Amino acid sequence: MNTVLITGGCGFIGSNFINYLLKYHDDFRIINLDALTYAGNKNNLAHFEHESRYHFIHGDICDEQTVNSIFSTYNIDQVIHFAAETHVDRSIMDPLQFLRTNVLGTGVLLEAARRSWGNKFSGHRFHHISTDEVFGSLSSKDPAFNEATPYSPNSPYSASKAASDHLVRAYFTTYGLPVTISNCSNNYGPFQFPEKLIPLMISNAIQGKPLPIYGDGKQIRDWLYVEDHCSAIDLILQYGKNGETYCIGGNNQPTNIEIVTQITSILDELLPKSPYRPHAQLIQHVTDRPGHDRRYDINISKIHNELGWSPHENLYSGLKKTVIWYLEHLTWMNEVNQNQGFSEFLKANYTSR
Ligand code: NAD
Ligand code: DAU
Repeated sequence: MNTVLITGGCGFIGSNFINYLLKYHDDFRIINLDALTYAGNKNNLAHFEHESRYHFIHGDICDEQTVNSIFSTYNIDQVIHFAAETHVDRSIMDPLQFLRTNVLGTGVLLEAARRSWGNKFSGHRFHHISTDEVFGSLSSKDPAFNEATPYSPNSPYSASKAASDHLVRAYFTTYGLPVTISNCSNNYGPFQFPEKLIPLMISNAIQGKPLPIYGDGKQIRDWLYVEDHCSAIDLILQYGKNGETYCIGGNNQPTNIEIVTQITSILDELLPKSPYRPHAQLIQHVTDRPGHDRRYDINISKIHNELGWSPHENLYSGLKKTVIWYLEHLTWMNEVNQNQGFSEFLKANYTSR
């Protein structure tokens, strides 16, 4: 039985990953360390409350004492580090919280792993979850990001993630800590907090609220269905090579306006009696995000060739599953929408935009 410390397991990708690990493996014991910020929701994993392989700890990754005591109490074999401040718009409003959690927090975890594992690194792994945003913005002619693309982050969020990636790599070169890093594109799917584009659009559209598109809406992202991300992490954990980075993406690059239009047509089809049909009439262009990256694209040849991974969902199948999930979990969405401070954030970010 491996004991794996998962940080940020009550967030969007973390809770999907815990579901994935407990569904497909029976040789893992999970310790989930989460500070339950506005983005963390313990109810996402309520069905595991009585599962003996799952243990939740409410705590902060920046708190050395908590982190060190988890390593000594539970004999941690592996770490999968998801915990972070993750929303670009919030990082523009409050950058220091991003530096604290994303940089200092990662440092505290690396240091605890190094101290606990000593010279016996075999059987251990520190996997760091990062983002394609560290590579910056592409022009229409640039090739897709790959593992050798130089870092060029543009927002306080992506700069803090870039700093954390550098720290992780430094622990490999300096101490030989067994690390891997993955840089992935925009995830979507169940349990995503409705501050991010896709769940925000679904949530607003079903309430007849405006669908705010930043600028001209022609910015491009690659979209990855969250379960596909989970299967990629699982493979890296089993077969990834220490010191290596893996790029992960969904093999699609729609513009924002295309993706929102697709969501509105799925809603038109699924909600034939909605008074807001056609939902596309709710689209409104608003002032652009400062420093908004224009285009991302990600080359997934390395993880495909070395670990045999490919995404399973295409954009349409993934979006349809996602919209259906939100329509079937309106109570979850209503509770999350009433989350501490969320309406203040929405006001601050959108009202005078
Ligand atoms: P999220 O915002 O949904 O969840 C973050 C989780 O971390 C929450 O449960 C929160 O309570 C917890 N957390 C925050 N600060 C903490 C602290 N100091 N100590 C302990 N826990 C803390 O995030 P997500 O979208 O699931 O992203 C997870 C990881 O994946 C992040 O590292 C993010 O940078 C990366 N990532 C996300 C995406 C995406 O599209 N969502 C894409 C690429 C990479
Ligand atoms: O690329 C990976 C990154 O994807 C992750 O590292 C981040 O944690 C995650 O938040 C996400 O960052 P983005 O900024 O790309 O995601 P977001 O959902 O905030 O925005 C997606 C695109 O949609 C982006 O171009 C901005 C635009 N947008 C977003 C919102 C919230 C709008 O046009 N209107 C909106 O209201």
